[in-house]
Amino acid sequence: MFSLEPDIPMADEDFRLIRDVIYAHCGLFFDNDSKYLLEKRLARRLALHQLAGYKDYYHFLKYNRKKDQELSDIMDVLTTNETYFFREIFQLKAFTDEILPELKKAKEKRGDRSLRIWSAGCSSGEEPYTIAMLLLEMGACKDWRIEIIGTDICHKVLQQARKAVYGRSSFRTTDEQYIRRFFVEQEGAFRVADQVKELVTISHLNLFDMGRLAMLGKMDIIFCRNVIIYFDQVAKKRVIDSFHKALEDGGFLLLGHSESLMNISTAFSLRHLQNDMVYQKPLAGSGGFPCP
Ligand SMILES: C[S@@+](CC[C@H](N)C(=O)[O-])C[C@H]1O[C@@H](n2cnc3c(N)ncnc32)[C@H](O)[C@@H]1O
Repeated sequence: MFSLEPDIPMADEDFRLIRDVIYAHCGLFFDNDSKYLLEKRLARRLALHQLAGYKDYYHFLKYNRKKDQELSDIMDVLTTNETYFFREIFQLKAFTDEILPELKKAKEKRGDRSLRIWSAGCSSGEEPYTIAMLLLEMGACKDWRIEIIGTDICHKVLQQARKAVYGRSSFRTTDEQYIRRFFVEQEGAFRVADQVKELVTISHLNLFDMGRLAMLGKMDIIFCRNVIIYFDQVAKKRVIDSFHKALEDGGFLLLGHSESLMNISTAFSLRHLQNDMVYQKPLAGSGGFPCP
């Protein structure tokens, strides 16, 4: 395809400097083989800021008074946002049939009828809206105060999540009955019904912004699926430690199927449920093992 961007090469040294700034900001790690990718994705930024090369761009990212805005803006071109409704259905079945009943029972015993569920790295919103649809289908919201919080670092996808209108590619594994019940057809696309939207809050959040993370409050369940695969080991550890702090004792952490806590954290227990294996923050005083 014809490209308007001039072909400015990125020197190896500039690549390392720029990728380290990006890494420190958001944990995304570009290894040495990704230089070409970074060069292509950032080419427009040189043109936009009328910079002669990537050395200047590095200085811009590091010292310009608009550096924070620039780092925030480039998340739109650096993140991978692939997602769809009802992704990883076995895990969702573990969520509805095993995790929720267990959690609700434990909370009810304490006289607590509230549930806070966080979709961390929610992309364009399919994941938090899937969670809301499942809860509505189960009738789990009756007499319970349910909050589903979807957060992401990328502004472009968050706009889409707030709009909540989706094309066919978001429905590749969605049963027709959910489309009929929870969507309104709109000019060839599908808008999420208000009763689903009302359960979900969409916010901008960088998982490495520890100050803002602490303000989110305690969660009962964290979905962080297909997000930490883009981080290196050190960044994974930081994010998982902050999830541990954010979770209530006995709360659950659901990662993507290709992700695990092996060599990252021993602070969670691995629960072998019937439908899937999931991580749980041990109950206080349980000696490290959760009580089923
Ligand atoms: C592949 S999508 C996963 C979407 C959804 N969780 C799923 O499994 O279908 C990964 C998302 O993580 C987000 N992400 C990456 N780094 C992040 C960070 N440091 N803070 C918050 N979100 C981040 C990306 O913007 C992207 O939308």
